Amino acid sequence: GTVILAFSGGLDTSICVPLLKERYGYDRVVTVAVDVGQTAEDINTATEKGNLIADKHFTIDVKDRFVAEHLFPSIKANGSYEGYPMGTSLARPLIAEEIVKIARAEGATAVAHGCTGKGNDQLRFEFIFHGAGLEVVAPIRELNLTREWEIQYAQEKQIPVPVVKEKPWSVDENCWSRSIEGGKLEDPAFHPPEEIFHWTVSQEAAPVTPAVISIQFKDGVPVALNNEPMSGLDLILALNTLAGAHGVGRNDMMEDRILGLKARENYEHPAATVLLVAHRDLEHLVLSRQELAFKETIDAKWSELAYMGLIYEPLYWALTSFIDKTQERVNGTVDLKLYKGSVHVLGRSSPDTLYSDEYASFDSTTVDQCDAVGFSKYYGLQARLLMNQKRD
Ligand code: ARG
Ligand code: SIN
Repeated sequence: GTVILAFSGGLDTSICVPLLKERYGYDRVVTVAVDVGQTAEDINTATEKGNLIADKHFTIDVKDRFVAEHLFPSIKANGSYEGYPMGTSLARPLIAEEIVKIARAEGATAVAHGCTGKGNDQLRFEFIFHGAGLEVVAPIRELNLTREWEIQYAQEKQIPVPVVKEKPWSVDENCWSRSIEGGKLEDPAFHPPEEIFHWTVSQEAAPVTPAVISIQFKDGVPVALNNEPMSGLDLILALNTLAGAHGVGRNDMMEDRILGLKARENYEHPAATVLLVAHRDLEHLVLSRQELAFKETIDAKWSELAYMGLIYEPLYWALTSFIDKTQERVNGTVDLKLYKGSVHVLGRSSPDTLYSDEYASFDSTTVDQCDAVGFSKYYGLQARLLMNQKRD
């Protein structure tokens, strides 16, 4: 029969092609690379390799859908899991759905992926695969392979290997984030070497002259950079370059995976860092105190579900509806400074601002300050009554 393999062109998914035939007995392996904004080089390698080693290969471009259907909602939700903007997490369901479509078109009843049995990706993929009633094969998980064995096997099968034993990083990339893990990085105390970073320069190498930029938001999503209207994808790609050149967006963290394992993760996500800082700042100008406080808990729950890949959990959609409603007033512009790895808000403005100069300014006499005297007499009344009881 035919099996459809989610394919990245990396070591794990490459050796899956011969393994699916030799160890699982499939006679036809169809590889699918899904373009979610990884570098052109990555997607080209996947396409070339798929065409070389599989019986049939597809490369599917879903970049704009990824931005519209997954990244924009995440910006609105201030999407973050323990400080990680969830690039990999957000892309997995979309990738899985494209695999399902190809499986249907090719008449396949089985799909395969190259995830291990220790991580999150197996769960995110299989949530969609099992939901579609497909049989799932996971050679890397089922055969308990080590990377050393994999490299040897790849060489035997004449599959070009992108990793060598001295640099065994496992990298996952899309336009929202680049994750680097594995090898020596698995030791939480090991200092990340400069070579793992491809999107950001070090603080030391960043220019001494800061960049000042402005981002315009409409309904909670970015629509222009430095007054130039842009598609979401173009804006994210431009910001990755711009902010990365100032060393913005590096992230070295201990992450609590879904299974409960702690994992040491390194990330680069310049655009995500800048957009999340700007978006949250703008919310503080336009949303009410009550909305802000409540939304923080909603955002955290939304992020947890997005991290888990549970995009068909009904709560996810209920929370998304709440978030969308609040974003109707998240319009305006935020100015920011990028400097040696940091991003600072310089100013913000909005047609929907809840800030009132007339009420708040020390220099204004619109409100009579004496009005506060009566308010203050009731302020904390119950606690004051209790304080006095205790004193007696
Ligand atoms: N820990 C991150 C996440 O769960 C990144 C996973 C990277 N995946 C990979 N196959 N290298 O979203
Ligand atoms: C893997 O284990 O396959 C990659 C990491 C993850 O899924 O979290």
